[in-house]
Amino acid sequence: MNAIKIYNMKFGCSLLIQSRGVLGFNKFPNLNRNLHISAPRFLGAINQTLKPFSVSSPNWGRSRVFPVTCCNSSKPNYVADYSTTLESRVNDKNFESVYVQGGLDETGESAGRAESEAEKDAWRLLREAVVTYCGNPVGTLAANNPGDKVPLNYDQVFIRDFVPSALAFLLKGEGEIVRNFLLHTLQLQSWEKTVDCYSPGQGLMPASFKIRTVPLDDTKVEEVLDPDFGESAIGRVAPVDSGLWWIILLRAYSKITGDFAMQERVDIQTGIKLILNLCLSDGFDMFPSLLVTDGSCMIDRRMGIHGHPLEIQSLFYSALRCAREMLALDEGSKNLVRTINNRLSALSFHIREYYWIDMKKINEIYRYKTEEYSTEAINKFNIYPEQIPHWLMDWIPEEGGYMIGNLQPAHMDFRFFTLGNIWSIVSSLSTPKQNNSILNLIESKWDDLVGHMPLKIVYPALELEEWRIITGSDPKNTPWSYHNGGSWPTLLWQFTLACIKMGRIELARKAVNLAENRLYADHWPEYYDTRSGRFIGKQSRLYQTWTIAGFLTSKMLLENPEKASLLFWEEDYDLLEICVCALSKTGRKLCARGAAKSQILV
Ligand code: GLC
Repeated sequence: MNAIKIYNMKFGCSLLIQSRGVLGFNKFPNLNRNLHISAPRFLGAINQTLKPFSVSSPNWGRSRVFPVTCCNSSKPNYVADYSTTLESRVNDKNFESVYVQGGLDETGESAGRAESEAEKDAWRLLREAVVTYCGNPVGTLAANNPGDKVPLNYDQVFIRDFVPSALAFLLKGEGEIVRNFLLHTLQLQSWEKTVDCYSPGQGLMPASFKIRTVPLDDTKVEEVLDPDFGESAIGRVAPVDSGLWWIILLRAYSKITGDFAMQERVDIQTGIKLILNLCLSDGFDMFPSLLVTDGSCMIDRRMGIHGHPLEIQSLFYSALRCAREMLALDEGSKNLVRTINNRLSALSFHIREYYWIDMKKINEIYRYKTEEYSTEAINKFNIYPEQIPHWLMDWIPEEGGYMIGNLQPAHMDFRFFTLGNIWSIVSSLSTPKQNNSILNLIESKWDDLVGHMPLKIVYPALELEEWRIITGSDPKNTPWSYHNGGSWPTLLWQFTLACIKMGRIELARKAVNLAENRLYADHWPEYYDTRSGRFIGKQSRLYQTWTIAGFLTSKMLLENPEKASLLFWEEDYDLLEICVCALSKTGRKLCARGAAKSQILV
């Protein structure tokens, strides 16, 4: 059964929805969404002459109807121009407040300081990377190198890559592109099935989307938004982090622009709930952390991070905190908020207690007994001490510590993953003491984690047999390259944010100063190779947008540190009081949190 529905979308675009029976089941994710759209946005008239279209492509495996379309060359008269309506414009007053309160003048220039050549170049390139849809800015290309003959999928707008672009624009007082991005990606949320007739759960956000121009007839072309949920990605990985970033960006947008009406919209509230339902639904898991496959986040290729990787846990934690803040409190959301609180509490305990390592903890693990059956076990995950890697014994400093990359039964991944650690600081997933310790470790291991270019995505690299087995002999992820120990300048903005939060602004300045001239001279590479990040990455793109935007965001945060507080979270002491162990009511003593409280409190 194929049924095509046409709804209006803001910005004068139409939304095409194909509902289709899949193995006897019907799915109407976006239809449900549109039933919630408030009356003024709904255009009753459906143009009977507009033909729904489908495009067959060998890559997509089957014919597919695009979800979001708009006429480019000649706009049909039934489509209202919303560009001047209330819905399509961010309240300009909000931007005034950004200019007035911040250190930016009304043109968005940094007040009292001339922009460096690198900044000027970066702004020019960032603006050139902007993608428009129906004449409105909706995102930025992953990379925009005019000389690049084979852009692969870097000509798409990636959800995660757009976050630093969004922040750069927001801090500059330009909210429209971010608002458009949030609304358009919402319309793409899990609307279509993907690999070999298997549907992802409702609520999944795409990894990326692309604007395609499709001929309607001889005279007209139409622009369509084409999402990728991983069905075209290498390894067909689901982008778990996309929805989490979407929620985090939504909160940042409201905080910086002051446009809180946006998050109150029914379609936005539904979007948040769909993402949460997907993350909070019951499975077979025994841990409060999110169980994912390898490659489901920034590291989107096989790197041995399946299970419960730290990056996903810290994004999950902050997305839950954002959602709790933004969900409208009513009868319908009461249970959800309770579930969020319980999960936040359990998750922070789990990570703080079991992912944290420092000199003392490693020594404890080194002396662990194994094969302990009972709820009283100290070595709960049955970690064999022999798995403590040799590099770590020499590497761990006397002062400082970090969160390990992953925890599974009989497996601790001791590698240092930068994004997960930095985002634990930003979101307060780790304690204030742990936050400081992580920054101490980065400072004392500067040559290893920063070297010539901030920052290593992971330390150390997998080599030899480990590389062969864990990456599956991936020629792009060879030791000290790309995801396997490459240096990713986009991580600068998150590092800057963490440093500002912890009052270590000098550390961030040191990193930004190190990067500035080099990035500019090297044409903004995606990543650098070698142990100390000396060479531009083997297959690194140039003019990589999140490198550019990450640099600009870092600069603006350093200039306006007070703005950073809109983007991080302080410790939530109430959460520490919640004990979710309902089992204690049954008299079974399974909860170890009482005993461990000294650890999780500051
Ligand atoms: C690479 C990165 C991924 C990024 C994409 C686009 O695949 O691993 O994190 O989103 O490039 O820049």
